[in-house]
Amino acid sequence: MSDQTIGQPKILGVGIYMPVYDVAADLIGLGRNFQAKVYRLLQPQRGEIVLDVASGTGTFAILAKSVEPKLTIMGVEPDTKIISVANKKANRKKLDIKFIASTAQDMPFPTNSFDAVNSSLAFHHMSTTDKRAALKEIWRVLKPGGRFLLSDFGKSKSFWLKTSIRFGELLGFESMNCAKDNLEGRIPDLISEAKFSVETVASRHRGVEFWLCTKS
Ligand SMILES: C[S@@+](CC[C@H](N)C(=O)[O-])C[C@H]1O[C@@H](n2cnc3c(N)ncnc32)[C@H](O)[C@@H]1O
Repeated sequence: MSDQTIGQPKILGVGIYMPVYDVAADLIGLGRNFQAKVYRLLQPQRGEIVLDVASGTGTFAILAKSVEPKLTIMGVEPDTKIISVANKKANRKKLDIKFIASTAQDMPFPTNSFDAVNSSLAFHHMSTTDKRAALKEIWRVLKPGGRFLLSDFGKSKSFWLKTSIRFGELLGFESMNCAKDNLEGRIPDLISEAKFSVETVASRHRGVEFWLCTKS
C-alpha cells in the first residue's frame, strides 16, 4: 500500500492531474455549478451534521459550509494529497471543515452519526464489491430517517460518455471497468439492496443522475 492511499481505490489525479482537477471540472460542467445543484438537492439545514463521502478537493464541503456556517460538515477521502488540497482551500476561506483519510467502505464514525450524507462522482471509481460495502457503510453512519444524495453517471449508451470514461481509464484517472455498473443502470438496484428507499430527483446533468436515498 502506498503511503498516500488507504485501501486500494483508484485515486483521482495521481499527482499530475490533481492541480488541474478543479479547473477541468468547471470546464466540463462538473465543478462549482454542478456542486451548487447538489447542494440544492441535499438541502443541508443549519445545525445538521453532514458527511461528504469521497470529498476530493473539498468543493462541495466548502460550498456547503460557506452557504450555511451553522452546519457541521466533514469529508472522507482516501487520497491524502487531495486532502491537503482540500485543506488549503478551506483554510484560505477560514472554514472549519475536517477532511479525514478513509475509504467509503470502512469509515471511522459511530453508527447513526449523520443527518445527511453526500457523495458525488465517486461511485463510478469503485468496484461492485466496494460500491456495496460503501452503501452499507453509509447506511450505518446515517441517523434513522437520514438522507443520502448520490450523484453519479447513470444508465447510458452515449458514445461520448463511454469514450470519455475509456479515455480516462487509459490515462489512469478512471478505474478500469468500474463505471459499468453505472452505465448499465445497476446503481438503483445496488442502492435498494442496501435497504435505502430511493428516488431520482432532478434531471440529468452531463450524464449524471441524482438519487436521493432515505434510511427508513
Ligand atoms: C472524480 S473525484 C470526485 C470528487 C468530489 N466528490 C467531486 O464531486 O468533485 C472521485 C473521488 O473519489 C475518491 N475515491 C475513489 N475511490 C474511493 C473510495 N473507495 N472511497 C472513498 N473515496 C474514493 C477519489 O480519491 C476521488 O477524490
